[in-house]
Amino acid sequence: MNAKRKNIADRVKIFDTTLRDGEQCPGASMGLREKLEVARQLARLKVDIIEAGFPIASPGDFEAVHAVAREVKGPIIAGLARCLEKDIERAAEAVAPAGTRGRIHVFLATSAIHRQFKLRKAKEEIVKQAVAGVTMARQHVKDVQFSPEDASRTEPEFLADVCQAVIEAGATTVNIPDTVGYAVPEQFGDLIAYLRDNVPGIDNVTIHVHCHNDLGLAVANSLAAVRNGARGIECTINGLGERAGNCSLEEVVMAMRTRNDFYGLQTGVETREIFRASRLVSQLTGMVVQRNKAVVGANAFAHESGIHQDGMLKHSTTYEIMQPEDVGISGTELVLGKHSGRHAFTNHLHKLGFRLSATESAAAYDAFIALADKKKTIYDDDLVAIVQQQMTEPPPVYTLDYLHVSTGSDTVPTATVRLQKQDEVLQDAACGDGPVDAALKTIDRICGIQGKLLDFSLQSITQGKDALGEVSLRVEFGRRVVNGKASSTDIVEAAARAYLNCVNRHLVDQNDPAPTPKTRRARPKTTKRSTRKKRS
Ligand code: KIV
Ligand code: ZN
Repeated sequence: MNAKRKNIADRVKIFDTTLRDGEQCPGASMGLREKLEVARQLARLKVDIIEAGFPIASPGDFEAVHAVAREVKGPIIAGLARCLEKDIERAAEAVAPAGTRGRIHVFLATSAIHRQFKLRKAKEEIVKQAVAGVTMARQHVKDVQFSPEDASRTEPEFLADVCQAVIEAGATTVNIPDTVGYAVPEQFGDLIAYLRDNVPGIDNVTIHVHCHNDLGLAVANSLAAVRNGARGIECTINGLGERAGNCSLEEVVMAMRTRNDFYGLQTGVETREIFRASRLVSQLTGMVVQRNKAVVGANAFAHESGIHQDGMLKHSTTYEIMQPEDVGISGTELVLGKHSGRHAFTNHLHKLGFRLSATESAAAYDAFIALADKKKTIYDDDLVAIVQQQMTEPPPVYTLDYLHVSTGSDTVPTATVRLQKQDEVLQDAACGDGPVDAALKTIDRICGIQGKLLDFSLQSITQGKDALGEVSLRVEFGRRVVNGKASSTDIVEAAARAYLNCVNRHLVDQNDPAPTPKTRRARPKTTKRSTRKKRS
């Protein structure tokens, strides 16, 4: 046991930054409605702090932080700001509705590389600006967090000087980011120990860590940090985030819980909400969770080999270190059938934690009945997919009325599509390279637009040949990239509905100001992934 831990509490705070750093993940941007849904789920998950966005970045970011601060009860709500007056004032205004639960998170890069090439500032100027930022933020809120960006590549002595200065200026949390995912566990743990030994006053503030996953070490680095006295971990659902992402909340929380014998640390997370949070974020961002992802992947609790299955039947601990129920996976439960009434349906949704408006509930019920006609067994996961589709759908401009596709090895794939636009019924047909291409081209013809498909992925939601197939798309319309998803037992129909979802979002968004471009390097090339399901 690490001697340095003796004087500090065993409670590790979980700071979720899915809505800020997670949203910086290329292709993962969310609208206001989606952000609020995620924030509500994070509150059910009982994270300690929600970083809801970067208010100065765009009016949309500001609105999101403001709405989360106003509507989500429980966790502290943080807004990010550079050490600049305009950023800090905007962040203060955004978190104000949270009252004493409002936090301003100011950051400034400290490493030599950033000082020289990005900021062109000397060390003294950095300290001065960091102190000014924290002092300014303290004039608005009591809870101020400071992050020396690129801390892991900063000279440790200078990092200690900066930390000391911001603590003296009133920072209540000091966050040590491994901004570029350069750290390795032993060294990162040592850095935290070094700061605890060399920064006067550091024991009076909370040390957080914020690790990126460029080398796949974000969770390991965060764990090394808490072994050495950090008491806050910044992380995201499904490890979403810039480039290779951030420390994954589900992995780091379950590591501390499962290996409590080693770490002796607690979080306040309601782990049974983890799976739903993972599905929700995946659904709303269009970022598919890989099947073999730890804790929340579809295979995380699946046992394929005979030896393992035999062991599992004798005693689950033979091959399972966590119970699926611990993270809220109950996918094998048969919940409702086609004879279930509206009341039973709504009650069940309540049990699953969903609050729908009357219109959404009615639409979800109709979708459920339509599915129950096609599929014998309906699982909780099927319901979650249906409901999330209703909740994320913008008021549709076009709805799919009819789809017919003819395809085969010797046939030119052709689609006939009928769409409804208010009282108008519009119909057309087109050929394509395959049935999906034909359906999408026909939709383009009817709507008079041209979307460019950047990403296509298909996942089955539950088991069985009649499982719902969920199609996630990323589509470019001019300068705007839109994510969309839809599920159906027929994957061509799922693709057409997902595409129509993108078209509708695009048409609704067109009236909004264009999103502020974030500094992102273009991906070298877009991946086009397609998994075939038997029923195609
Ligand atoms: O990665 C990083 O350094 C950040 C800071 C703003 C904390 O996201
Ligand atoms: Zn980050």
